[in-house]
Amino acid sequence: MGINRRSFLKIAGATGIGAIVSGKIRGGEVFQEKDNLSPKTLKNIYREAYKKHPQKFNMSGYAAPKLDTVRVGFVGVGNRGSAAVERLSYIDGVKIVAICDELETAAQKAKARIKTPGHPAIIYAGKEDSWKEMCRREDIDLVYVTTPWRLHAPIGVYSMEHGKHVALEIPAAKTIEECWELVQASEKTKKHCVILENCCYDFFELLTLNLARNGFFGEIVHTEGAYIHEIGKSLFFRGKPGRSWRLKENMERNGSLYPTHGLGPVGQIMNLNRGNQMDYMVSMSSNDFMMNEYAKELSQEEDYFKQFIDAPFRGNMNTSVIRTVKGQTILIQHDVTTPRPYSRLHTISGTKAIAQKYPLPPRIAIGDGKWLSEADMKELEEKYNPPLITKMQDIAKEIGGHGGMDFLMDWRMIDCLRNGLPVDMDVYDAAAWSAIAPLSEWSVANRSAPIDIPDFTNGSWRKNQPHDISLQHGGNTQVRKDIKKE
Ligand SMILES: NC(=O)c1ccc[n+]([C@@H]2O[C@H](COP(=O)([O-])OP(=O)(O)OC[C@H]3O[C@@H](n4cnc5c(N)ncnc54)[C@H](O)[C@@H]3O)[C@@H](O)[C@H]2O)c1
Repeated sequence: MGINRRSFLKIAGATGIGAIVSGKIRGGEVFQEKDNLSPKTLKNIYREAYKKHPQKFNMSGYAAPKLDTVRVGFVGVGNRGSAAVERLSYIDGVKIVAICDELETAAQKAKARIKTPGHPAIIYAGKEDSWKEMCRREDIDLVYVTTPWRLHAPIGVYSMEHGKHVALEIPAAKTIEECWELVQASEKTKKHCVILENCCYDFFELLTLNLARNGFFGEIVHTEGAYIHEIGKSLFFRGKPGRSWRLKENMERNGSLYPTHGLGPVGQIMNLNRGNQMDYMVSMSSNDFMMNEYAKELSQEEDYFKQFIDAPFRGNMNTSVIRTVKGQTILIQHDVTTPRPYSRLHTISGTKAIAQKYPLPPRIAIGDGKWLSEADMKELEEKYNPPLITKMQDIAKEIGGHGGMDFLMDWRMIDCLRNGLPVDMDVYDAAAWSAIAPLSEWSVANRSAPIDIPDFTNGSWRKNQPHDISLQHGGNTQVRKDIKKE
């Protein structure tokens, strides 16, 4: 009887002979990298990665009933969330009806950032689960979640179960179980679960998406994406004291913790979940060379930081490599510590052409390997910039949010909801892109052994269609000019 690779790995994982598959036996002992997760958690990641879940309903391409007005409730309005409140208040057809934060002051500050009249935002605050009361309200259409990571999936599931669409900041979930919970809740309730991956709306990313749709790159062979952003030292101060949730994430887990900024845009270009699928991945982390040094340095000035000395900090650089079912490769890197210029790589290498965004400025080469001149790049942009850019880029830049991509993302999501269109980034994208983090943790802890990437579409990816970037439908949501006087 034949045995395929998936079922062999399943057996191997269940019986503990996964060690042999990954070739990490040393003198009969299983050697593991110093890992931050307990063996139980690691085993669970593996088990969940191979568990099957039937599809109840295919949410890919699903159009929910139109909403003339989208009544929005926000949860977790710190740095990111309060900016989102402001951005959404510029969009016609949005009514901000609720703002929730554990801290009343944060909720009030976010409310003060609303720029236009007509937003009767009720504050929910004071309790760890004040968001539940908000989500139970009947008059909310969309719950917009910008909390720490651990709350994204629980609030997402609860919101859908209570009849709301949900928009989740990145990553949408922390574990494979949570990824499946989001998929199941969305399929059961027919509510959208949008992952707020703003980098999919950056201008060069959208240009390269349209180029790929037009066959410009030929067959795509390899892509690269990353989150390389030096915020290492600042992690010690974010939310201090006692609320340094992001620092804790970087102490408790070791892997590609923030994969979606890199993976989202190239995933769309490669039609993941829509005609293509990620198959398996491997992941490797360097040691920590910097975070512990920061902890020591900072604790010389302030005792508060002493608690972080010798914490099991995440390896500074994580490199993960994914293989698709079509035999292409995707490289995803994560480094928030070493001193180097910001980069998301965003490289698309095909049989005919290559695009590479970083180091800035973005560049493209065709055939002979020479980068196009500035004039040729301009010509390409004029020909291939999708309507989302040509129509919205000026106003998006004016309102802003990472140069305009944040506003473009919000506007497009609201326009889809108002016009009853499928969303660009659905629950399968949310789950698949976010799953890379826990899967990378497992691989890192197992000497970079391969692990399969769950098919959250349950095979529907074969028939699912790429999302529409033509703006032929919708595109009629206005941007408000009736700004309140300060
Ligand atoms: N897409 C992007 O470019 C981007 C950029 C920055 C942050 N983010 C994401 O946004 C999210 C928030 O990041 P941030 O930097 O704004 O963090 P933050 O710590 O500034 O804000 C989080 C807020 O959530 C609140 N909160 C915590 N627990 C809560 C609870 N139980 N109920 C209600 N509110 C609660 C906190 O009080 C705080 O105000 C994260 O998921 C992060 O990954 C995304």
